[in-house]
Amino acid sequence: MNMMKIIKAKDYAELSRKAANIIAAQVILNPESVLGLATGSSPLGLYAELIKGYENGDLDFSKVRTVNLDEYRGLTKDNDQSYAYFMRENLFKHINIDMANTNVPDGTEPDAAKECARYDAVIESMGGVDIQLLGIGHTGHIGFNEPADEFKKGTNCVDLDPKTIEANARFFPSADDVPKQAYTMGIQSIMKAKKILLVANGEGKAEILYKACCGPITPRVPASVLQLHPDVVVVADEAALKVIEEKCPCCIG
Ligand code: F6R
Repeated sequence: MNMMKIIKAKDYAELSRKAANIIAAQVILNPESVLGLATGSSPLGLYAELIKGYENGDLDFSKVRTVNLDEYRGLTKDNDQSYAYFMRENLFKHINIDMANTNVPDGTEPDAAKECARYDAVIESMGGVDIQLLGIGHTGHIGFNEPADEFKKGTNCVDLDPKTIEANARFFPSADDVPKQAYTMGIQSIMKAKKILLVANGEGKAEILYKACCGPITPRVPASVLQLHPDVVVVADEAALKVIEEKCPCCIG
């Protein structure tokens, strides 16, 4: 039996509203929530909805703390391709969050072991993530945990998969400019979140989303480990659910 709750949205706008409502409910119920956040294209609409929620007075982020999944190794916070910059531009600067309560791995720390240990301590000090937002990579990565022989537990420094570099090249002048490594929260840290919300849109994600939700649980498809988490909600549009709908329709709803 699939423990994941898979919610279908007709398009990206509906997906963004539905997923934002889940985070909004968390913040309304507990204004001191710890939110695990993601970057990439998938959560952009959701962030825009949270900003609207703040602007119309429904959401107060003044006591919310956040911890982001990952950061490119080597990029400074001010580099417009860094995930720290992304979070500021697409969410933080538009809401009343205290920037001191936001955390992103430090891409400029050259000592990987040191930065991974520091970030694990940050996650630990938050006392548990209430809801972890995830996108899914074409390789099945969550955070930047790429397919591997084992699940990485804590924060780790990864070599990005060529497929990920190719997918993310759209944001850089060329594929050669995409950093080759990143710091990412580990699978164990992600799995420790009380609730997980994964968002996926577009046909390009349909096959990997099927493998993640309905295929064997394997570090070759890192997102498949989410099948073992007791409280996962996947919100996806029709295009991303195409293969699940064909092969495993009873998993939806
Ligand atoms: C981003 C992250 C990645 C992305 C994934 C999907 O912080 O951790 O796992 O969620 O690469 O990216 P998009 O949403 O751009 O397709």
